[in-house]
Amino acid sequence: MTQILKAKQVVEQGIEELSKKCNQLKKWGITPYMKVLLVGENPASQIYTRNKKRYIEKLGAKCDIIHLPDSLSESDFIFEVGKMVSDQAVHGCFVQLPLPDQLSHIDVGELIPPSKDVDGFHQNNLIGVLNGDCGEKVLLSCTPKGILTLLRHYNIEVAGKHVVIIGRSMIVGKPLAMLLTNHHATVTICHSKTQNLEKITSQADIIIAAIGRAKMIGVKHLSSSGNQVIVDVGMNQDENGKLCGDVDFAAVSERVQAITPVPGGVGPMTILSLAENLFQAAREQFEQQEINP
Ligand code: GUN
Repeated sequence: MTQILKAKQVVEQGIEELSKKCNQLKKWGITPYMKVLLVGENPASQIYTRNKKRYIEKLGAKCDIIHLPDSLSESDFIFEVGKMVSDQAVHGCFVQLPLPDQLSHIDVGELIPPSKDVDGFHQNNLIGVLNGDCGEKVLLSCTPKGILTLLRHYNIEVAGKHVVIIGRSMIVGKPLAMLLTNHHATVTICHSKTQNLEKITSQADIIIAAIGRAKMIGVKHLSSSGNQVIVDVGMNQDENGKLCGDVDFAAVSERVQAITPVPGGVGPMTILSLAENLFQAAREQFEQQEINP
């Protein structure tokens, strides 16, 4: 029987633990506080930011969304980000992506100081992972962190395993490869120019699809062993406008050991990671203040 790696139970556990942590932090006089900058009217971004706010508030923490117009100039954008990050009460913040065209060239990751970078996009946080950190000192990228948490929950060992990641983005593929290596996996990164993709994926113990193309990974990418684990990071629309992953779930799911569903797999884990990063940031800032009041 194929195991479906649902996030629901993991997220519920996470919410319980973070709610306890929130109460603890409040006893010390800290309410974790996140600010989000949302520019424009992208419907998906509006839903994502609203969900993130609801999630953070459910834990007893605080979240504000700063919603700015689509026509925002570069200088006004930089000013608003500056205001957000320099707010002493704020422990974590991020800019929701994508940005409108006139701002899309800006490297948002570098505008937010690493200690408040709950997305884990700042180069200091990425370099920390490159140096072998697994989230002890740095804030990890949310999707990679969520995938590791999900696999750990289901006792899927990555140490010594061959993990094939399809996708080389700075948000998922590259930081995930570093993090998995720190956890002693053997990692292959594939991408749109990879030759013989099917041969490589068929040699994997774990396949992680982060391509952004609906149902691209099918039976031809699998080995015949039936022992592979599939992690699907994709959030696409199929031909009927229905949400689907990068993996053809219906075709593949009977032929593997375990697979994450879409929706209900990696997506909810990413929000859990964001909340964990906010609490880690709040705690670290509190400890820093205790050392250097
Ligand atoms: N838009 C889609 N995913 C993300 C994410 O993980 N972080 C930010 N800031 N924007 C996004």
